Amino acid sequence: MSNLYFHYPFCKQACHYCNFHFSTSLKNKVNLWDAMKKELILRSKEISLPIESIYFGGGSPSLLRPKEIEDLIQLIKLHFKLKQRFEVTLEINPDDVTSAYLSGLKKAGINRLSLGVQSFIDKDLLLMNRAHNSSQSLNALELISKTFTNYSLDLIYGMPNSSLKQWEQNLETALGFNPPHISSYALTVEEKTALHHKVKKGDIILLPEEEVENQYQLMVKKLESLGYINYEFSNFGKPEFFSVNNQNYWNGKSYLGIGPAAHSFDGTNIRKWNISNNKLYTNSIKEGKLPFEEEELTLKDRYNEYLMTGLRTIHGISLLHVQETFGDRYGMYLEEQAARHLSEKFFFWDGDHLKVSSKAKFLTDGLASDLFMV
Ligand SMILES: C[S@@+](CC[C@H](N)C(=O)[O-])C[C@H]1O[C@@H](n2cnc3c(N)ncnc32)[C@H](O)[C@@H]1O
Ligand code: SF4
Repeated sequence: MSNLYFHYPFCKQACHYCNFHFSTSLKNKVNLWDAMKKELILRSKEISLPIESIYFGGGSPSLLRPKEIEDLIQLIKLHFKLKQRFEVTLEINPDDVTSAYLSGLKKAGINRLSLGVQSFIDKDLLLMNRAHNSSQSLNALELISKTFTNYSLDLIYGMPNSSLKQWEQNLETALGFNPPHISSYALTVEEKTALHHKVKKGDIILLPEEEVENQYQLMVKKLESLGYINYEFSNFGKPEFFSVNNQNYWNGKSYLGIGPAAHSFDGTNIRKWNISNNKLYTNSIKEGKLPFEEEELTLKDRYNEYLMTGLRTIHGISLLHVQETFGDRYGMYLEEQAARHLSEKFFFWDGDHLKVSSKAKFLTDGLASDLFMV
């Protein structure tokens, strides 16, 4: 199975923490959307397996009209094999939600929404420079929970000046809607963002790491007690509502990424990424040239990536899979490296699967890199 990903690189305003590729100048959006449709057709032979997930991400794909999405889904049906049931997700910003828009999306074929709430606290939203306020999120959730069965919301923890109590209230507000899925990321200071600049100048003081961890642990405990499964480090879903898109990605399935800055993977060892420039992207596609760079992953790269993504998931990493895919040398290496850490109880074996213990969950990325083949 494969995924199709569309990167829609426009936003109403720039959030201060975000370093995803986007432009706040919307004047070329029609030309760019035409280029994305052309790229889709030009690359339709790159994926032979049936598509199981279509994902509109960005940027802010909720700036697209339902008709534009509907036409694109029709185009996909003409050029790709689709699984009988497939997930079609759209990332939606709270300030774009109206009941007419939601009905239009449903009619267009969207069957899953991911709502970018980030926080229900207005001072957090101001600090982030979000285009919405908390009452718009509440209104959006009210409407979405009545219209869509399958939806997720994004929250950011570890906000500057946030207390554990405030974070708990954020979670409780979200849980009041009983959403089937929540994704939550720690605020990350990315280079070249307004947040980075303000932190460097001392205008914003980051929350100590220990308090960020406390917020994460509280979230895991609270959500698990309510029947959510923490199936990946940052993702929590009710059974039957795990994201197909994300799971395919973590399982190393192939994906085709359309649009500027979109990444693609052939499911084995070739990764491509499109140019991160809207104008150059549009002009190049207009001339029939695909503006991408590519790299071939070595066996070692692929092994290290499997460790990094696998350990973040509830399944951990399989020794058998390592032996079959990477060979006995890697299998032995994994056993040796894991043995060095078993006494600290950060890892444990569950059958042939190596997993991170709950006490060490917050440290997963660092622990995974300790096991890397160097
Ligand atoms: C890039 S946005 C795209 C979707 C939509 N435009 C929005 O803002 O909700 C996807 C998600 O990435 C997360 N994100 C982006 N940059 C982040 C950062 N520096 N720290 C934590 N989360 C971040 C946010 O939670 C956001 O919901
Ligand atoms: S977080 Fe979303 S809305 Fe904000 S700048 Fe990034 S992509 Fe745009």
